[in-house]
Amino acid sequence: MGNYAKPRGTRDFLPLDAGKLQILEMILKEVVSKAGYKQIITPIFEHTEVFTRSAGETSDIVNKEMYTFLDKGNRSISLRPEGTAGVIRAFVENKMHTDPDLPIKLFYFGPNFRYEKPQAGRFRQFYQFGVECIGLRNPYLDAENIILATEMLKQLGIQDIEIKLNSIGDTESRERYKEALRDYFRPYLDTLCDDCKARFEKNPLRILDCKVDGHKECMKDYPRINDYLSVESQAYFAQVCKVLSMYNLPYTIDPKLVRGLDYYNDVVFEVYAKAENGTSYGAVLAGGRYDGMVDQFGGPKLPSVGFAAGADRLLLVMEDLGLFNQFSYNLTAYIMPLEKESFEYAFDIMLYLRSMGVDCEIDYNIRKIGSQFKTVDRKKATFALIIGSDEMNNGQVQIKINETKEQYKVNANEIIPFMQEYYMKKQQEEHAHHHGCGCGHHHEHGEDHECCCGHEHGEEHECHCHEEGHECSCGHEHGEDHECHCHEEGHECCCSHEHGEDHECHCHEEGHECSCGHEHDDDHECCHGKGHEDGHECCCGHHHDDK
Ligand code: HAM
Repeated sequence: MGNYAKPRGTRDFLPLDAGKLQILEMILKEVVSKAGYKQIITPIFEHTEVFTRSAGETSDIVNKEMYTFLDKGNRSISLRPEGTAGVIRAFVENKMHTDPDLPIKLFYFGPNFRYEKPQAGRFRQFYQFGVECIGLRNPYLDAENIILATEMLKQLGIQDIEIKLNSIGDTESRERYKEALRDYFRPYLDTLCDDCKARFEKNPLRILDCKVDGHKECMKDYPRINDYLSVESQAYFAQVCKVLSMYNLPYTIDPKLVRGLDYYNDVVFEVYAKAENGTSYGAVLAGGRYDGMVDQFGGPKLPSVGFAAGADRLLLVMEDLGLFNQFSYNLTAYIMPLEKESFEYAFDIMLYLRSMGVDCEIDYNIRKIGSQFKTVDRKKATFALIIGSDEMNNGQVQIKINETKEQYKVNANEIIPFMQEYYMKKQQEEHAHHHGCGCGHHHEHGEDHECCCGHEHGEEHECHCHEEGHECSCGHEHGEDHECHCHEEGHECCCSHEHGEDHECHCHEEGHECSCGHEHDDDHECCHGKGHEDGHECCCGHHHDDK
């Protein structure tokens, strides 16, 4: 039996999860686009040197975790362990630095590969949404990057975050600091793990965030980088912190934050988000300044700053916080042919609706109506379009609104207007629910419901607008008799329709549509006068009951 299971540390995004990943990408794209970032797509694999040169001499990510292989031409190729190196390689190779409008702002989204020990929120194939801003060294830009990162999380609905910040200084500061760390850790060398023994020579900064040695006694009084920063690096870091404080962005300075990739200098940061139950998935987003990489790839000396968000971790946090509930996918229409004879007509309706932008599916198996309705429920379809031979012969369909169970017979060419009207009404209702009843006044719907005309009504729910002491909703002055004279000569009617010679409003007569937007019954009366009668719907979009 072969091994047909997915490789360890990878996962299948089934349609529901793939949809969530897509939602996340869409939201993040929108946020960064507003900040001027444009998408770049680079290969998933690069020549191995792209990563060893930039991210790697001393980093575990490049030296231990990379998926590296020789291709058929005997070249060393690596699956990208992160996005930055490939983006900067592409920037240089395509001479993007010749653009007169630096900095160049690029974003990317895609899979990366690291041979890590899989655990909660850590995968061997994982997705990053990242941004790189190339061509400027300015503390406001570093701050803007961190502000953008928090805005991205906020737009996803993740508010409970912790921003950790540090400066690892410029190259000279860091070399002095590394020497100080070697002096400090030398007496403890025997007590450190094998990895840290190797780090001691190559990059003692990495000892500081070692998962194995992190809790040991010697980790308490190590020298702090702040004491080794050059004046310029210190001032730069202070300025970034000042801007963040100016915009009330809480952060903590973490002197142990050194980052796992080699290319950083000066400001580095990581953002942590907690799930509702307190589970931490590690950093959901991380990055910092890297001023030497463009130059390393043979480009000009151009400073850069950027960060990447771990999409898999963001998904986990968002799922835990129930943030996807609002995005449930609904089918618009499920088309239900009732017998073989009406199938072709139903099929035709389906293709017509799709050509009009309506998402819909058909029941190919022409199952019993009950089974088809069960599918309508499972697919959460808004409308069921029931099509039997009667409907086919008359060029009609039966539309059932799944939520209310109301059913209407509609001509084929009126399906779209029917759906539009339904959505419009629903939108009005939702708007009214959130913002008041649509009358323009903010009030609760309770016993003392106010009429959309802006006036209080009595118990009988009658509009008393035209009675003594009340102003008419038409916005015109009334005579002494408190009667509305809108339709008399010389007065413009509030209905906004042209009036005949007799200066009478004919809106409510047969063949005229009323401006209130509602269907009227036989007496062609506007709901304005009748709106609060039993069962009648008010033009505010709400159905008022006895209350
Ligand atoms: P990084 O800290 O290695 O930085 O990764 C950024 C984010 O990717 C992490 O904070 C985490 O959310 C996610 N991530 C990393 N490894 C895994 C994994 N094995 N499974 C799931 N998620 C993971 C970088 O990659 C830099 N290129 C960021 C950057 C961009 N710096 C400047 N520009």
